[in-house]
Amino acid sequence: MHTQVGIIGAGPAGLLLSHLLHLQGIDSIILESRSREEIEGTIRAGVLEQGTVDLLNATGVGARMMKEGHAHHGIELQFNGRRHRIDMHELTGGKKITVYAQHEVIKDLVAARLEAGAKIYFNVKDVSLHQIETSSPLIRFQLENGTDYEELNCDFIAGCDGFHGPSRQAIPANLRVEKQKIYPFGWLGILAKTPQVNPELIYSNHERGFALISTRSPEIQRHYIQVDPKDDITNWSDDRIWSELHARLDMDGWSILDGPIIQKNIVSMRSFVCETMHYGNLFLAGDAAHIVPPTGAKGLNLAAADVQVLARGLSEYYHSGEEDTLTRYSEICLRRIWKAQRFSYWMTTMLHRNFEHSSFEHNIQLAELDYVTSSQAAATSLAENYVGLPMEIQTNYSIRI
Ligand code: APR
Ligand code: PHB
Repeated sequence: MHTQVGIIGAGPAGLLLSHLLHLQGIDSIILESRSREEIEGTIRAGVLEQGTVDLLNATGVGARMMKEGHAHHGIELQFNGRRHRIDMHELTGGKKITVYAQHEVIKDLVAARLEAGAKIYFNVKDVSLHQIETSSPLIRFQLENGTDYEELNCDFIAGCDGFHGPSRQAIPANLRVEKQKIYPFGWLGILAKTPQVNPELIYSNHERGFALISTRSPEIQRHYIQVDPKDDITNWSDDRIWSELHARLDMDGWSILDGPIIQKNIVSMRSFVCETMHYGNLFLAGDAAHIVPPTGAKGLNLAAADVQVLARGLSEYYHSGEEDTLTRYSEICLRRIWKAQRFSYWMTTMLHRNFEHSSFEHNIQLAELDYVTSSQAAATSLAENYVGLPMEIQTNYSIRI
């Protein structure tokens, strides 16, 4: 088996990369260890930056997003029993976010890839990377019901297999530069069959811990509360979850609408960066190279930014033999990654209660919130980071088929 770019992982990074390469006339094959149903059914976050929305629209996969997604012009910050709106649209000269679930983006990209005749091998097993230091790397794997090993020969491998995938591990450990921070917070997330309770997202810093009001549709809401990352979801009855949401969000004349919870889970929170995103003919993108805590809603958007740079570099290589962007791939991506890490770290430490904190540190946190909600300069900084900083490299997608 041969292709130009072998892609491991059919998450947002792998699927979007394959789509962008296709628009540039570059072949790719995707190897995914889970089934199509699984990847299209995994509940994750759902906030798209302006730049990600523009990219999906510009490359012809934005129609359903524009129909079913929700554009939000602002967000609200709640603390000391009061709510403060950050008018991001006003503060950024007209930019906004779109709330559209990650698994819906995956559905749209899988449909577009298959419609274009792309090869996506689902349920593959035992994927391993070989000869990545050479100009002819290969991926060994087993097909769904296969017993023999297949070999995918390619010019380049794109490691889009998430934090736990094999691609990053294929880079010699002594050559990998990795930086990490583990937070003493976890997020218990729910999907609830209840009406939308607020037109925009609400981020709440409460003495009982952080809480977030988000949405998926007029009928389905997505909410999160800060919990102990080591806690077990079985300790959280629906009643207990709703009473915590009421405690952390209700205000005079406003109460969250509770109802049937259709999905709930607890995730831990970390910041992680592997600065070695390029090794030989292997390139890492998305969660394979970096993890952000969800408070800044940057995960999917960073993956989209990485693959824009990678697609641009591969297009220059194949169409003009130009290697500059590929050579500078890590450097270009890391500038954006560290800014998103800074913003996500800042939002996380400003909005979560650290019960180890002294009363002095606690007051600093409240002063930070007071400053952000009373200074136009500080609110603008939050807004421009939240809607998405401009891409370092501009790419206009003209179809080259
Ligand atoms: N072989 C093949 N595929 C694999 C393997 C493997 N050994 N290991 C993992 N995968 C697949 C996973 O099943 C998953 O579908 O790689 C894909 C990685 O997708 P994501 O984890 O979604 O990562 P990425 O595409 O980089 O998207 C980042 O996802 O987790 C969210 O918050 C994160 O929003 C961010 C986005
Ligand atoms: C979500 O809608 O799932 C969501 C929104 C904002 C975040 C994280 C997740 O910061």
